[in-house]
Amino acid sequence: MQEYLDTNRANWDDRASAHAARTGLGYAVQRYVDDPALLSDVVRFDLDRLGDIRGLRTVHLQCHIGTDTLSLARLGAQVTGLDFSPVALTEAKALVAESGDQVQFVESDVYAALSVLEPASYDLVYTGIGALCWLPSIDRWAQVVAGLLAPGGRLFIREGHPILWAMDETRDEDLLLRFPYFEQEKPLAWDDDSTYVATDRPLTATKTYEWNHGLGEIVTSLLAAGLTLTMLVEHDSVPWEALPGQMIERADGEFALDARAGVAPLSYTIQAVKPG
Ligand SMILES: C[S@@+](CC[C@H](N)C(=O)[O-])C[C@H]1O[C@@H](n2cnc3c(N)ncnc32)[C@H](O)[C@@H]1O
Repeated sequence: MQEYLDTNRANWDDRASAHAARTGLGYAVQRYVDDPALLSDVVRFDLDRLGDIRGLRTVHLQCHIGTDTLSLARLGAQVTGLDFSPVALTEAKALVAESGDQVQFVESDVYAALSVLEPASYDLVYTGIGALCWLPSIDRWAQVVAGLLAPGGRLFIREGHPILWAMDETRDEDLLLRFPYFEQEKPLAWDDDSTYVATDRPLTATKTYEWNHGLGEIVTSLLAAGLTLTMLVEHDSVPWEALPGQMIERADGEFALDARAGVAPLSYTIQAVKPG
């Protein structure tokens, strides 16, 4: 397992420096410095379901370079971002130092979060958009989430749908389910020098290991961890071009299927509450 973790971390360190480009087609982080009211497209999509988060003690798991994290802070939450990539966190800290957003960052594997953050102390655990596929066990993840939440606190996750992760993105016609939908012990191994946003250079740490988790497995793991499900919504879009050549970009920054609009869910939102 350590080999998978180290390989994935090296890939994310590499991606993080490429993703942190100030301008361009990717995260374009300079926008957050130039406009102190700007929210990421991801958080803007969540707004209606997220509701009022002012003052909530919040942890953003797998926060990457901090663009969603600082967006939560801009909505008034007291936010700590957690990620295992030191390069991502260096970029995130540099960004908020310049933008002036009040955010803390902690370096840790998600599964070790309860040893670096105070258990049972968060009103909101926020995560998603390419987070769960890096984790081998959904049950262990749900236990960490439940362990972080204070009584009455809630999980908010919007994530790529497991049916999307099962699709072969290299086919530009006929959606093809090629990869496991259900969680497998053995990861899918990839070797790819590109990433999900345009960058100015190919990656050098190209290998990754990923796991899918079925929607039923995700819900069941949260229930087994003692949480109460309060929302499960499936969406016809996702915030990155997950199936190149088959998607249209909408005005809100979301990508939806073009010719086959509506044939499959591409992302979902789950909310779950820890009983008070
Ligand atoms: C696709 S990004 C999350 C995206 C985020 N929503 C965004 O776009 O800013 C995935 C993040 O998960 C982190 N990550 C992957 N595996 C992890 C682990 N085991 N523990 C902590 N962070 C992890 C990576 O470093 C990366 O920053």
